[in-house]
Amino acid sequence: MSSTFIKNARIATANEHGDFVHVDATEMLLKDGKIYAMGNNLTVEAETTVDANGQWCLPGFIDCHTHLVYGGNRANEFSQRLTGVSYETISKQGGGIKNTVRATRALDEDSLLTQTLRRAKRLAEEGVTTVEIKSGYGLDKETEIRMLNVAQKVGELANLNIQRTFLGAHALPPDSELSAEEYIDFVCQTMIPYVAEHQLADAVDVFCERVGFNLAQTERVFMAAKQSNLRVKGHVEQLSDSKGAALAAKYHALSVDHIEYLAQGDVPLLAEAGTVAVLLPGAFYFLKETQLPPIETLRKYKVPMAVSTDMNPGTSPIASLLTCTNMACVLFGLTTSEALTGITAHAAKALGLTRKGIIKEGFDADVCLWDIGSPDSLVYEINGYRPTAKWIGGKRVL
Ligand code: NIG
Ligand code: FE
Repeated sequence: MSSTFIKNARIATANEHGDFVHVDATEMLLKDGKIYAMGNNLTVEAETTVDANGQWCLPGFIDCHTHLVYGGNRANEFSQRLTGVSYETISKQGGGIKNTVRATRALDEDSLLTQTLRRAKRLAEEGVTTVEIKSGYGLDKETEIRMLNVAQKVGELANLNIQRTFLGAHALPPDSELSAEEYIDFVCQTMIPYVAEHQLADAVDVFCERVGFNLAQTERVFMAAKQSNLRVKGHVEQLSDSKGAALAAKYHALSVDHIEYLAQGDVPLLAEAGTVAVLLPGAFYFLKETQLPPIETLRKYKVPMAVSTDMNPGTSPIASLLTCTNMACVLFGLTTSEALTGITAHAAKALGLTRKGIIKEGFDADVCLWDIGSPDSLVYEINGYRPTAKWIGGKRVL
């Protein structure tokens, strides 16, 4: 494994309080895939030396909630929504997620991979080094497995760390006779044990909502995940206060995602459970939602907030994590520091990754160099910058 010495860098990362700060070190040794040493005037031997010439060195960004693997697109539904038809109405009429399920089932692995790679490259070229990818557009055994396999391959081909999440409980499969209870039986009894046994996913997610699965069904999925030793997360309180977040906290969920309708009274439960609040401003924007997530209460109880794209064809067709940081600030009132911590340290926490998202000795050497005036430039200027260099696990990939 090669070693790289980076010198003359301005290094910024989240600190232990979650503030994204400029740290007092200008040099870094990447070795054995890790940040091996950091400081000033280090005496080290390295195979390669890179002079950053005063550029900023930031942790690789982490997109902790995506549905990157899918077939087709929903441009037609976008047009419908522009005439005033709601997301829920389209969903009830058999469109929405079911539409994408049909398109995804129709693609073989290679075609699905090709379509997904385009989106993965968009994320990667903006400095993203880790992406979470959910299944959930197959809703049958074969296609769910194909999606998770494609997710894995995307990582290899686009130079990304991939975390996979099984989202079998995303919607009722189209063209199926199964009741919701029977489908949840299949998810819990067949799919989750299979996914766990074959190590196809790192966590299990559920869409707990009026147009998704109810609280009792969600709890069944969480219990099955627990039995298979998989962590859980939830799409909760996106369209209504369904109490999914409180339930997720009971199961020590890694994260609760969306949460526009999260009740203030449920926020302390997240803090106690160590659950991350994942904000998805792209979906808020794209659905023209007006209900804001309870940011001030999340701050008050020190619930870590992450920011992610939710890249998906229905509610957030946005393959740009930095654009979503801008939206999190403009639409939700985050500070630029919160937004940057939200796509680094807190995004890592939302995935249970204890060695990523922070520039610190012993952490994974996933870092980028940026030719910018200051890190908040990346949040401020939409589509303004690309990294000038990138390492993943200490390996130079740009
Ligand atoms: O995160 N909320 C459920 N799942 C996705 C949307 C899926 C779709 O419409 O295709 C989301 O918003
Ligand atoms: Fe989502």
